[in-house]
Amino acid sequence: MEDAAARRYVWDLPTRLFHWGIVVLLGFSWWCAETGRMEWHYRSGLTLCALVLFRLVWGFTGSSTARFSGFVKGPRTVWRYVRQKDGETQPLPLGHNPIGGWSVLVLLGLLTLQIVTGLFAVDLDGLESGPLSYLLDFDRGRTAALIHEVSFNVLLAVSAIHVLAILFYLVVRRRNLTWAMVSGYQRDGGGEGLVRAPLWRLVLAIVIALTVAYAVSAGFRF
Ligand code: HEM
Repeated sequence: MEDAAARRYVWDLPTRLFHWGIVVLLGFSWWCAETGRMEWHYRSGLTLCALVLFRLVWGFTGSSTARFSGFVKGPRTVWRYVRQKDGETQPLPLGHNPIGGWSVLVLLGLLTLQIVTGLFAVDLDGLESGPLSYLLDFDRGRTAALIHEVSFNVLLAVSAIHVLAILFYLVVRRRNLTWAMVSGYQRDGGGEGLVRAPLWRLVLAIVIALTVAYAVSAGFRF
């Protein structure tokens, strides 16, 4: 039977909700765009915008494993991690490993690009455009729309690599990372868990994300 103490709390609830929220909403946004449900595409995109804004703020104010300073490592640490052999007795990192940390930055960067280009995108007849499209002329708005389309495919490709990496850990390293992203717990022999952020920082991050997302959705015109 599994020892309950041999688990560490690794992902706080906001980080997990953010993760599964973006997975569901990305799929939903794509489906809405493909089936012409543009109103829902906007709503879903703006919710994604709030989620990503929240995650960016949480990366500075959140629990220890959610912070950029905790998982973005320099090239030497990444190289040492890459060269580490299977079974080598190095302590397992709590949270993202040094390569995973960079992949998180890439995914967050692509999500940001996807959202920003959507906000500025103009469609051909100018009827279904993002809330900030009025700030650009028609040609630039069309360029934003083009990047919005291309960057979605790049995001899909990088997400596929992300899922393949998770599968690699499951099959080769026998580590179920997905369960940790669902339950919050990592099975690795126990030890110290994450350092939680106080509640006021969570409230602050939510307020910032919602305020900015609301301002953006109104095109900064109140
Ligand atoms: C559209 C698809 C996806 C995107 C854009 C995405 C994006 C992300 C991002 C941004 C993180 C960092 C989480 C954070 O620190 O806030 C992450 C981590 C993670 N994701 Fe995904 N994800 C996707 C699909 C999936 C799927 C389908 C699974 C499971 C099968 C998965 C499993 C995980 C796990 C286990 C982690 C933590 C990795 C670690 O231990 O370092 N992701 N993902």
